[in-house]
Amino acid sequence: MRVSVIGLGYVGLVTAACLAEWGHRVTGVEAKPERLAKLRRGQLPFHEPGLDDLVRRLRPTGRLRFASADKPAYAVRSADVVITAVGTHDGNGGWQTATMLDCLTSIVPHMRSDAVLVCRSTLPPELIARLRGFVGALREKAGKPMIPVLLNPEFTREGAAVHDFMDPERIVFGIVHDPQETGVEIVKSLYDRASAPMLVQSAIDAAFAKLGANLFLATKISFANELAQLCEAYGANVQNVVAAMAYDGRIGGRFLSAGIGFGGSCLPNQVAMTARAAQAMNLPADLFDAVYQVNRRQRQIFVEKLERLVEGPLRGKRVGLLGLTFKPGTDDLRDAPSLAIAAALLAEGATVVAYDPMPTARALAVATLPGLIIADSAEEALTGADAAGLVTEWPEFTAFDWAHAARLMRTPVLVDGRNALDPEQLAGAGFRYDSFGRPQAGQVTAMPLEAVDNVVASPLFVLDPALDGAAASVDGMQPAPQERQPA
Ligand code: UDX
Repeated sequence: MRVSVIGLGYVGLVTAACLAEWGHRVTGVEAKPERLAKLRRGQLPFHEPGLDDLVRRLRPTGRLRFASADKPAYAVRSADVVITAVGTHDGNGGWQTATMLDCLTSIVPHMRSDAVLVCRSTLPPELIARLRGFVGALREKAGKPMIPVLLNPEFTREGAAVHDFMDPERIVFGIVHDPQETGVEIVKSLYDRASAPMLVQSAIDAAFAKLGANLFLATKISFANELAQLCEAYGANVQNVVAAMAYDGRIGGRFLSAGIGFGGSCLPNQVAMTARAAQAMNLPADLFDAVYQVNRRQRQIFVEKLERLVEGPLRGKRVGLLGLTFKPGTDDLRDAPSLAIAAALLAEGATVVAYDPMPTARALAVATLPGLIIADSAEEALTGADAAGLVTEWPEFTAFDWAHAARLMRTPVLVDGRNALDPEQLAGAGFRYDSFGRPQAGQVTAMPLEAVDNVVASPLFVLDPALDGAAASVDGMQPAPQERQPA
């Protein structure tokens, strides 16, 4: 099948390359001249595991070629399917639809009358309601018949995008306009190499299928972070708690890792935009507001933990940050917690030296955040540091020689923002170490008596007089045998 993919960002380039890998003849269309030039030189504009191999292998076959958005007729006129994958977020918690509307205005008049238009970009519901009319008017103005229009939301995770495309858990189509269902049949055959269930829904259902999934994932993470706070206060270990919860098939264990919270282009934006839209419609959005607030708070908690461990203000202290990208496996810095954390540390008067394995992320971070110092290695970031923060759980950090790190630092102090390291191992290496919702090394994992006292002292709590003073001997408060401290 001949396919044109408009917009070669994380979504579009992965879609183009994977469809070409499945044997389709794909033209990737890009508006930014530098990005296009790079792709034509065989270089990727961003890091995505497995994607450069695909692009390098497929270009010589002629199944994947790149064209400029300046020549829309040339880019789409022979396509059976045209897929739009241009950006629709403004990067600041809002939608921007101008790029999408410009893209449709330039390509729709040139599409064949038997071709299908597929929107893979995430669209605001308000635009979905107007999409049929917008495309219809463009076709009418061009003197051509209406074409089928479908949504096909993507569920790809950066860092695993090629895998997620080739082996998806589900494929969702939303019908904007397809009276004869010819469009759905064509687009289904585009995906015939995938074995996932294909769901055909109304356009608004398909859009909410994507939104609902992201809101739920974000909610799980903020839930885990709030649970971690409780665990910390009561002396429980959130990882053990989640491991036990995960056996309940209704809950599952994924996306319940506590730490500095979610970043990236999708989750934070979608939570913020949904809360805003609900507010505009006078609908309650207390949960989504809370999910967002909890997520922001985690970044602040990270800074407070550092302050506590260095036992004083951070002014004049040198802090080494390990990791800048919003998660491992990508060089994406969009809404990365690292930037907010580094900015807060700089505002407190600390010297911040950061390292990330991705050179592109290092270059962008230093350009984005004046005052941030970039190191060329983890060792360099840690050398002479008064404290360190693990921000992104890249494998090179989790496998780091922490005893060596302790010797490089002025004072071996570390806050682990991803619960990625072993507290006992770090203590053994000489570190004062803290993470999220996990007891510190040597701390007996039983409810500390101060927690009991704090709660019992609260006017909100009424303790059965029979238990007064006896809390520490209740069976459930005893440490697990293997976790008891030696006498
Ligand atoms: C997300 C969705 O997963 C994907 O389906 C959608 O299409 C786009 O948005 P992505 O933003 O690439 O994908 O990353 P994801 O793996 O979802 O992680 C998002 C953020 O949550 C990262 O910052 C990650 O570190 C954080 N996270 C994830 C946690 O803090 N805890 C977890 O348990 C899981």
